[in-house]
Amino acid sequence: MNGNNLIQFEKVTKIYQAGDVETFAIHEVDLQIKRGEYVVISGPSGGGKSSILSVMGLLDKCTSGRYLFKGSDVTGMSRSELAKIRNTEMGFVFQSFNLIDTISVYDNVALPLRYRDDISAKEKDQRVKDALLNVGMDHRLKHLPAQLSGGQQQRVAVARAFVGSPSIILADEPTGNLDSKSAEIVMELLQKQFDSGVTICMVTHDPRYTTDATRAIHVFDGSIQSEEFRTPMGKAEIATA
Ligand SMILES: Nc1ncnc2c1ncn2[C@@H]1O[C@H](COP(=O)(O)OP(=O)(O)OP(=O)(O)O)[C@@H](O)[C@H]1O
Ligand SMILES: [Mg+2]
Repeated sequence: MNGNNLIQFEKVTKIYQAGDVETFAIHEVDLQIKRGEYVVISGPSGGGKSSILSVMGLLDKCTSGRYLFKGSDVTGMSRSELAKIRNTEMGFVFQSFNLIDTISVYDNVALPLRYRDDISAKEKDQRVKDALLNVGMDHRLKHLPAQLSGGQQQRVAVARAFVGSPSIILADEPTGNLDSKSAEIVMELLQKQFDSGVTICMVTHDPRYTTDATRAIHVFDGSIQSEEFRTPMGKAEIATA
């Protein structure tokens, strides 16, 4: 195995069973993502993009095949082992922001650090403030998500995604609910994370936001129909190559 592989799918299949209907959401997909890549996944609705991201993000298990994260087979891991990897290695951004309504902006961003015993309370506080400063939301620490615009909520979600210094950020249609100005800001924030060495895998319908990627994958009917590699790679790949 290539030591730079973060994500390795080997014939990953995901079947959803609803009543007596079986759907092959992912069909024997082989895919590797290396550190320092910026991968965009596009394709028609129902093609399996979100399913791929869910399995990749350890939010859902595959039905068959093997998934190695940083070289370790996660297919048979326990829920707590998976949660630990998810918490320390991955950041998530969703179309619908997915902030917790009942807690403040500050507390939302602090969530991924909550169970991190490798970081002191003082450093956690500093990281949350720095993350919110980085996305231009440091003036809204005490607000509740509902008191923010959609674009502001997504900026907070991006801060939450990177506050724990993950290896990879997984984003599913992060601009899907945003006006074009807010969408641009969110894409710039993701680009900034990429420039600082974070690997990115993003699902998007919007061709405007595929130009920053180092690889574009087209998914159709649960399979990878085509992929296009581009250069240059990000800093992390250059650093470890
Ligand atoms: N929980 C589920 N139960 C049953 N079928 C599901 C479930 N989730 C997804 N599917 C089916 O799996 C297939 C792939 O869905 P998925 O959400 O991955 O597509 P997508 O490419 O993300 O689509 P979109 O662009 O609309 O978000 C679809 O046929 C969908 O109906
Ligand atoms: Mg989807």
